[in-house]
Amino acid sequence: MANYRIAPSILSADFSRLGEEVRNVVTAGADIIHFDVMDNHYVPNLTIGPLVCEAIRPHVQVPIDVHLMVKPVDRIVPDFAKAGANIITFHPEASEHVDRTLQLIRDNGCKAGLVFNPATPLHYLEHVMDKLDIILLMSVNPGFGGQSFIPHTLKKIAAVRKLINESGRDIMLEVDGGIKVDNIAEAARAGADTFVAGSAIFGKPDYKAVIDAMRGELAKV
Ligand code: DX5
Ligand code: ZN
Repeated sequence: MANYRIAPSILSADFSRLGEEVRNVVTAGADIIHFDVMDNHYVPNLTIGPLVCEAIRPHVQVPIDVHLMVKPVDRIVPDFAKAGANIITFHPEASEHVDRTLQLIRDNGCKAGLVFNPATPLHYLEHVMDKLDIILLMSVNPGFGGQSFIPHTLKKIAAVRKLINESGRDIMLEVDGGIKVDNIAEAARAGADTFVAGSAIFGKPDYKAVIDAMRGELAKV
């Protein structure tokens, strides 16, 4: 079986007890904590920033994967690195200088990645493959948890998988939005290796049961 990673999005967690929530989800088998940052400008919603990242950092050992849905991008990058982020991804259309932003993230000691919305073309990848540690494909339009998986994303996952394989580089391929027990295998078959899931996990009473069921589906791929 490939090396699959499950990355619960804390967007659907109980924010009144976030430390406990992230500890519980890691105990239940999460590989990564996915941290959704929204600014009410790039996306029509407002969530959490570096202070909250810093607050949960001591609660878990696993990587914190910061998904920036903000514009501009660069000013906030060092703050998240200082707050304990391990991975920082951003949307290329939100940065004036994509190559520079990727380098900035790496210079701050984090893994760097680009995020593509359902309708964003992949052409940025042609020029920056050598600066990427992760590619995140949105399978919903960013801004909210609990939306339905857009099936067209499967074709896009397959296209990016091909580009990664051709590059010969070790780049994670993460999918984000509407991932559930009943579609995770399809996303894996298309070529994803890292799966963000918010409402499918934090919306349920037994996190371990959901994560185990997801791994069960992945084992069949
Ligand atoms: C959406 C966020 C996602 C979201 C996923 O803008 O980037 O990470 O929390 O939530 P679900 O799994 O509920 O679609
Ligand atoms: Zn996300």
